Amino acid sequence: MATVEHTEQAAGGSSDDGVRRRDFINIAAVSFAGVGAAATLYPLVNQMNPSADVLALASIEVDVSKIQVGQAIKTIWRKQPIFIRNLTPQEISAANAVPLSSLRDPQSLAERTKPDKANWLITLGVCTHLGCVPLGAAEGENRGEYGGYFCPCHGSHYDTAARIRKGPAPTNLEVPEYEFKSDTVVQIG
Ligand code: FES
Repeated sequence: MATVEHTEQAAGGSSDDGVRRRDFINIAAVSFAGVGAAATLYPLVNQMNPSADVLALASIEVDVSKIQVGQAIKTIWRKQPIFIRNLTPQEISAANAVPLSSLRDPQSLAERTKPDKANWLITLGVCTHLGCVPLGAAEGENRGEYGGYFCPCHGSHYDTAARIRKGPAPTNLEVPEYEFKSDTVVQIG
């Protein structure tokens, strides 16, 4: 069965450590349940060899209700880290203020989020240079010069729409296929 290897809440907010720990547990549990539910729908014949096939097709559901404005979590989907971030109004404004013509990989925040949900920035946590996991989704991590994510391997800086702004990465952090199943539950994959 697929497992969620690591989920972590991060950044900002006024919650104490106890609240964060409870949020972590809730988010981890929902992520795990989502993977399990998706995996059980897969045809029985594949149960003998679930690791590669099921993981390749599995979707996960994540309860984002505990992610406060300004916070982010990491989860795992198809063996890759996923960042889910609840952008602040200031971060949304900063992203929207950037002329697309100035971007290496021109995309608006609206193109990278869902309608009426511009605050939910969901991307792979995989640097598009050589595949390191950028910093910025966990509490206290360096978010780089543009306030989004920072890849310490070779110094790529991503902005608050996770678009590449500086450094060697050629493209923005990839937005996976996802949809909101409700106001608080997002299905990735
Ligand atoms: Fe991220 Fe090289 S892998 S900058």
